[in-house]
Amino acid sequence: MRQAGRYMPEYRALRQKYSFESLCHNPELIREVTLLPVRSLSVDAAILFADILHICEVFNRPFSFVEGVGPVISEPIREMKQPLPERPVEECLGFVKKGIELLQEELSLPLIGFSGGPFTVASYLVEGGSSRDLKATKQWMFRDPEGFHRLLDQLTQRTLDYLKMQVQAGVQAVQIFDSWAGLLGYAQFRDFVLPYLKCLVEGLRETGIPVILFCRGSSYFAHELASLHPACVGLDWHCDLTEMRRKIPRIIALQGNFDPYLLYAPTKVIREEVTKTLEAMSGEEGYIVNLGHGISPDMSVEAVKAFVDAVQESRALASL
Ligand code: CP3
Repeated sequence: MRQAGRYMPEYRALRQKYSFESLCHNPELIREVTLLPVRSLSVDAAILFADILHICEVFNRPFSFVEGVGPVISEPIREMKQPLPERPVEECLGFVKKGIELLQEELSLPLIGFSGGPFTVASYLVEGGSSRDLKATKQWMFRDPEGFHRLLDQLTQRTLDYLKMQVQAGVQAVQIFDSWAGLLGYAQFRDFVLPYLKCLVEGLRETGIPVILFCRGSSYFAHELASLHPACVGLDWHCDLTEMRRKIPRIIALQGNFDPYLLYAPTKVIREEVTKTLEAMSGEEGYIVNLGHGISPDMSVEAVKAFVDAVQESRALASL
């Protein structure tokens, strides 16, 4: 989760030279930033350097990244009577495809591509940026569910094109981040999140690509996500992993679920927590160690290294 980013000095150095937008739009720089964590950490897979908001460009609503604020979309959408004008995904987002292709030449680890979940991307389009409570999104959703469904439907179709483009270019798994879906009530999660994730999981089935579904709130929505039969469900840190393992069919892998703030702890504590979890999950094949959400910019590279190294050492010991 945010494998590359501001916690890395090399990334911050690149950001002195380039804006976030220009980093993201340049295939050579996509390759470089994706490779930064691979070069300095003993991770088992690389995460494509991109953003879930690129898809907004297809609807002529590019985001800009404002320092201290976050992503901003200048023309928010608050109603939808007819489909939004759109351009073909490959035409708009060919830079992502090229970045993935360049990575194929250099990367020996599996590459994980990704997109946002339709609800989460819709929330950015409606709010015009990040929001704590998704007030405008929920106001629209309750006032005019048909219109909001139209937006979700169109976003889903183009997201499917986008993920298929990534698969064609060479990613070996995809993760769908429906980060803010956890802010919804249960009934609304069922109405405005699940059908669209289902459409993505089923639409990708023909490609054979493993799909990881993640949302904040997956501690209570995990079985709903599992009902869509993805290859893996990503968990936040509010649940007990072993209990979740008993509840979710073993054919579905679990990913997570360390509290990212563990990375503020002393190295010794990081190691102890990793060892505890790996012991609790020993013998489970379908388990991917990860954080329950992203690394923060002020976390130290040493802490991230200690986390990854502790996993590799426990694994090496277990295979003796
Ligand atoms: O290495 C990786 O993990 C891949 C890169 C990645 C980024 N964004 C790069 C990025 C991934 C997987 C994302 C996903 C993403 N983007 C999500 C879903 C995951 C989650 O965290 O819930 C969301 C909601 C976004 C939207 C977005 N983009 C936000 C909220 C921000 C601001 C973050 C902040 O802390 O201010 C961005 C910008 C962004 N995306 C940065 C990076 C490295 C920071 C940009 C910078 O300052 O250089």
